[in-house]
Amino acid sequence: MQVNEVVLPGIGEPESLSVRTRELPGPGPGQAVVRVEASGVSFAEQQMRRGKYYDQPAFPFVPGYDLVGIVEAIGPAGSGGSVSPVQLGERVAALTKIGGWADRVVLEIADLVPVPDGVAPIDAETAVVNGVTAWRMLWRSARVRPGQTILVLGAGGGVGSTLVQLATHVGIRVIGTASKSQHDRLRELGVIPVDYHDDVRARVRELAPDGVAAVFDHVGGPGITDSWHMLARGGTLVSYGTAATKNVPGNPRLPVLKLLAQLALWNLLPNGRSTTFFNLWAGKARHPARYRAELREDLGQVFALLADGSITAQVARTFPLTDAGAALRYAESGGVAGKVVLLP
Ligand SMILES: NC(=O)c1ccc[n+]([C@@H]2O[C@H](COP(=O)([O-])OP(=O)(O)OC[C@H]3O[C@@H](n4cnc5c(N)ncnc54)[C@H](OP(=O)(O)O)[C@@H]3O)[C@@H](O)[C@H]2O)c1
Repeated sequence: MQVNEVVLPGIGEPESLSVRTRELPGPGPGQAVVRVEASGVSFAEQQMRRGKYYDQPAFPFVPGYDLVGIVEAIGPAGSGGSVSPVQLGERVAALTKIGGWADRVVLEIADLVPVPDGVAPIDAETAVVNGVTAWRMLWRSARVRPGQTILVLGAGGGVGSTLVQLATHVGIRVIGTASKSQHDRLRELGVIPVDYHDDVRARVRELAPDGVAAVFDHVGGPGITDSWHMLARGGTLVSYGTAATKNVPGNPRLPVLKLLAQLALWNLLPNGRSTTFFNLWAGKARHPARYRAELREDLGQVFALLADGSITAQVARTFPLTDAGAALRYAESGGVAGKVVLLP
């Protein structure tokens, strides 16, 4: 069986991505071959091509943070002779961090999450990394209540447009920052848009004079201080990225460590507010069984909301897998409305 996959050769422009074909080893015990139907372009690949992702592997490697596809082959039963929880021909989703930009992948069966009937593969794809990140930050990190007001930075992006829908669906009032071109679309999603090129802090003070119950900040950098100051008493700052430092040269871990130190300091202050840094991968290495169970649970919840129409997939644009370079270039162009999806 052969696989076509996209290779990131080293630090470089999106156009440096190339496609290679190789023989795919058969699945081992506990593994399955998934024929990929859709794979996502995430912000992580913008960082990886710059060598700026916190724990990226050595070059060259195949990027691709998440995917949806069909189980095409299942490996031999392990020594315990256990029955596979997925069936041949079943549609599944997986969070891979790297490796998803391929037309076939070999994955651990335990990492596969079934996609419900009635959810199209492209739609499901928009909900994998974005859906789990958004769901966990809203319900596990911030624990906001209906009727409260939150602020979502980058509300038009992949994670942002999923998060705002999960929140408005249960009656949370959402203020979302985005560039102007995204504002009409955000209003349609029930969000109060604010241009992040304006004075966001002043505008949020007008809209929520007592502050907001939570701020979701993927930007980091000096602006994190504004996010902290916009919180109401009892509010939580959920920090989950350092997009502001994408082009800052140097060790990719430094901006994250600096941010963590700042968050920890604020947490020590007796001021009735709190901070947390959300990491999608936390617990995976130490408690893999619990991690996988929670992934099935959380992604299952987001898929159910997609299936019953409570939230809608935000697909910015699709590209053939072989045009991954153009897709990444487009994803970096600014004002992108939702998720960029690759189709093998
Ligand atoms: N910690 C974790 O475990 C975890 C997991 C998943 C994702 N993430 C993070 O989540 C973030 C979003 O990922 P994504 O794939 O959804 O990216 P995306 O689709 O590219 O969305 C990013 C959004 O940020 C907006 N933006 C850029 N600069 C901004 C600023 N200064 N203020 C406010 N908004 C700004 C962009 O808006 P315009 O295009 O309009 O400029 C864009 O809509 C990334 O930083 C990623 O690292 C973290």
